[in-house]
Amino acid sequence: MSDWLDVANADDIDEDDVIQVEVEGQVLAIYRLEDGFYATDGICSHAEACLADGFVMDGFIECPLHQGRFEIKTGKARSAPATEDLRTYELKIEGSRILVRLD
Ligand code: FES
Repeated sequence: MSDWLDVANADDIDEDDVIQVEVEGQVLAIYRLEDGFYATDGICSHAEACLADGFVMDGFIECPLHQGRFEIKTGKARSAPATEDLRTYELKIEGSRILVRLD
């Protein structure tokens, strides 16, 4: 099991927003929803688009390139042309820091 990695400051993410971080060569998207923080792959599973450039709405991230939608908490692809789910990552908050585990 991999270590917890410090990836961002929680205060830097507004509610219903997303940022991109790069950690150990992997691009992740870190989201803040009403009930907490979540992490998924940062690159869309359909093509090479940065999800942090998309829109967070009602618990979904809409890809900026072809408007595929994914459920943020589960990574499930919910609308075409996205069909392949995103990976999600375990995340915790320590103080104001966001830590993720890449497993
Ligand atoms: S690149 Fe994201 S839906 Fe096509």
